[in-house]
Amino acid sequence: MRLDRVWLADVRSYVTAEIELSPGLTVLLGHNGEGKTNVLEAVGFLATLGSFRGAPTEALIRQGATSAVIRAEGEREGRSLLIETELVASGRNRVLVNRQPLKRARDLLGVLRVTVFAPDDLDLVKGGPVGRRRYLDDALVASHPRYDALQSEVDKILKQRNALLKGAQGRLDEGAAFTLDIWDAKLVESGGRLAEARQHLLHRLRPLLSQTYDAVANRPAAVTVTYVAEWTEVGLAEALATSRRDDVRRGVSTTGPHRDDMELRIGGLPARTHASQGEQRSLALALRLATHHVITDVTGSAPVLLLDDVFSELDPDRSDALLANLPAGQTLLTSASGLPPKATPDRILRVHDGQITLG
Ligand SMILES: Nc1ncnc2c1ncn2[C@@H]1O[C@H](COP(=O)(O)OP(=O)(O)OP(=O)(O)O)[C@@H](O)[C@H]1O
Ligand SMILES: [Mg+2]
Repeated sequence: MRLDRVWLADVRSYVTAEIELSPGLTVLLGHNGEGKTNVLEAVGFLATLGSFRGAPTEALIRQGATSAVIRAEGEREGRSLLIETELVASGRNRVLVNRQPLKRARDLLGVLRVTVFAPDDLDLVKGGPVGRRRYLDDALVASHPRYDALQSEVDKILKQRNALLKGAQGRLDEGAAFTLDIWDAKLVESGGRLAEARQHLLHRLRPLLSQTYDAVANRPAAVTVTYVAEWTEVGLAEALATSRRDDVRRGVSTTGPHRDDMELRIGGLPARTHASQGEQRSLALALRLATHHVITDVTGSAPVLLLDDVFSELDPDRSDALLANLPAGQTLLTSASGLPPKATPDRILRVHDGQITLG
């Protein structure tokens, strides 16, 4: 999977732009606010039809314009690939792949795959469990679309179970208890499968994470990741039975895969509370890169790697180590603070005044 050329029209700060990419490492350099992330965001949009910054589609349309176009040409599984999207402020986005309009925009998912590392990823290490669960679940879907259906199924079961608990208002009559038994059985089955898939993914990630971290940190650091679920010891069925009284009293499901977490440690200490800012950032990056390797393995081709502002908070040694250990395949990287001393990118682009020029 590779992109050779990207065109933007009325995207964010760009009136028009044409960007030629190296099949290896392309670096976008420029001061704050010049439009580096805008380029990565546009490329990411072609993969997911969304912004990795969490911005609504309208925000990607240049101020004053009514629509925007993102177009990219490249190669996928030995065949040429042309993706064209038109972003419309008031209406549905149009998507063409190899000049064929897609019936449903979501058919685009999987045509182009990207791995994104962005400054907000620090939250994976520093933030609460919600982000880490979403991370695992997104990685599962990237490795196989069937997990999308499983996640929706679990969400649906929990919604129904919670509605029942809330409706019971602290007292479960016989009929409600019977229905709750049914939701519990469903949650044990689907929720159990989801937790198992997450654990299996972590099992694959574990050695890669520790290798990738050591490579970025430039020395061995004993990084570990464990799946944390209160219920694993007794099993989900028994845990649900035990927590039933509590669940009824509080009107929510207090145990299950929607409460699970993963714990990251560096040198035996929990990274969330003990690691330095630079270590946390290195760890978040290592997590992304390790997942990138797993997805490359499972799908048979490397996603395009988008590294936004990756050198900030990394010392020059770590920055160099990162570049020396980039996964095979195509990478786009932005930096506002130049490049580390030993960097030898295949292509340098300078972003200034709405223009992108070869540097
Ligand atoms: N819809 C839009 N229309 C016009 N300009 C926009 C739009 N959205 C964002 N911009 C402009 O784009 C610029 C931000 O671009 P971007 O986030 O790519 O900067 P950057 O080069 O990544 O900067 P930094 O180094 O600070 O991360 C801002 O100046 C902003 O005003
Ligand atoms: Mg930026």
